[in-house]
Amino acid sequence: MSSSSNREKDRYNLTTPEVLANPYPTYRRILLENPVYWSDFFGGWYLMRYKDVAAAMQDKRISAKRPPVSKLPELEQQKILPLLETLSKWILFSDPPEHTRLRTLFNKAFTPSIIDSMTERIQTLVDELIDGVYDLGQIDIIHDLAYPIPAIVIAQMLGAKPSDREQFKKWSDDLARFFGMFRMKPEILTSAQQSIIEMTEYFRCILEERRHTPQDDLISRLIFAQEKENSLDDDELLSNCVFLTFAGHETTTNLIANGLLALLKNPHQMQKLKDDPSLITTTIEEFLRYDSPVQRQARIAVTDLEIDGKQISQGQRLFLMIGAANRDPEQFSDPDKLDITRPENPHLAFGKGTHFCLGAALGRLEAQIAINTIVRRFNNLRLDTDQIEWHENPSLRGMKSMPVAFNP
Ligand code: HEM
Repeated sequence: MSSSSNREKDRYNLTTPEVLANPYPTYRRILLENPVYWSDFFGGWYLMRYKDVAAAMQDKRISAKRPPVSKLPELEQQKILPLLETLSKWILFSDPPEHTRLRTLFNKAFTPSIIDSMTERIQTLVDELIDGVYDLGQIDIIHDLAYPIPAIVIAQMLGAKPSDREQFKKWSDDLARFFGMFRMKPEILTSAQQSIIEMTEYFRCILEERRHTPQDDLISRLIFAQEKENSLDDDELLSNCVFLTFAGHETTTNLIANGLLALLKNPHQMQKLKDDPSLITTTIEEFLRYDSPVQRQARIAVTDLEIDGKQISQGQRLFLMIGAANRDPEQFSDPDKLDITRPENPHLAFGKGTHFCLGAALGRLEAQIAINTIVRRFNNLRLDTDQIEWHENPSLRGMKSMPVAFNP
C-alpha cells in the first residue's frame, strides 16, 4: 500500500506542516480518543499516555533493538548495509547484556565530576559567541548560538577541531533527516550513509592520534576504559562516537531554541527568570517537558503483549510518544501551561530506566548556561518573524531558524 493511501487510512495525521508546527492539540485528541493507537502510516502502535510510555521504557518484553527505519523495501536496505551495520552497534539500539557492557564503559567517561568541571569552559564559550554578535541587533538563535554551543562542546570532548563544525553540521543534519524520514527518499538514505562513513573515518584518525598521545578528553578516557576492560572493539567505539556527536548536539540545540521560544511567547515567565536566575534549574526541566526535543522513541515487542486491552503482536513496532506523555493531564496539572516553577516535574524527555539519556547532565548544564546568559545579556529580546518554520521531523522537534531582534 502506498504511503499516501496509508495516510488517508490513518485517522490522525502527524505530518502536516500545521501539526509539525504544533503537535500538541492532535496528541491530546489521540490520547483522549485512542490512547493506544495503531498507525497504518507509521506502521506501529502509538502509546500516548504517560503511564504507558513510562511502563514501556522499563518493560523487558519491549526491546530497543529495532531496525532504525520501518518499512524500507528490501532493495533499499541492501543499498545501505554499511549504514545499518554502524547503527546496529549504537548503544541506543542495544538490549542487555550488550547494553550493560557498553553503558558501564561509557558511564566512566560521563561522570558527574567530569561534567561539572566543564561549567567554566561552557560559560566562556557562550559569552564569546554572544560577544561576536552582540552589536548586530538581529541574529538567528539557531545558527548563531543554539547550534554552535553543543556542537563545539561535543566536538571538543571527542577531540575534533571546532573549526570543523560546519562539516559536523552537515553530517548531523543528514542523520537527523534519516531518522525523521517519513517518506522514502533515496537521496536521504545515500547522504546518511555517506555521512556516517566520513564521520567514522574522521574519528578513526583521532583514535589513532589519541592512542599515541592521550589528552584530557572524552575520547582518550574511552580508549583508556577500552584498554582496561578489554570489552569494546574499535568498530563499536567509533560507531558510538558517531552516535555521541549526533545525540550530543541535535537535541541540545532544540532544547535551547524551543525553550527560548516558549519564554518569548510567555513574557511573564521570562520576567520571572530575569528577576530570579536561580529558577534556571526548574526552567530547563519545564522546557524539557513542555516542548520535548525528542518527541518519540521507537521500540519492538519481543513477545505478544496487551496494553490497555489492545493486542500487540511479537515483532510489531511501538512508538513511545514522549511529547504526548509529557502533556498528559493525568500526570501533570495544567499541562499546556508553561510554568518555570512547576514543583513536581517527572517528565520523560530523557527517557526512563535502561536507556535514560547518558548526556542528560551535560545537556542540562549547556541549556542552563545558554538560557541564563541569553536572558541576562540581550536587552528587549523579541522574535523577528511571524512565521516559524519547523523541521519536517516528527521525532526530533526543532526549528529551521529562529530570527530574533534586540537592543544592542
Ligand atoms: C539536552 C537534550 C537531550 C535530550 C532531550 C535527550 C534525550 C534522549 C532520549 C529521549 C534518549 C533515549 C531514551 C530511550 O530510548 O529510552 C537519549 C539517549 C541517549 N542520549 Fe540523550 N538527550 C539529550 C542530550 C544528550 C547529550 C548532550 C548527549 C551526549 C553528549 C546524549 C547522549 C545520549 C546517549 C549516549 C543515549 C543512549 C543511552 C542508552 O542507550 O543507554 N544526549 N537521550
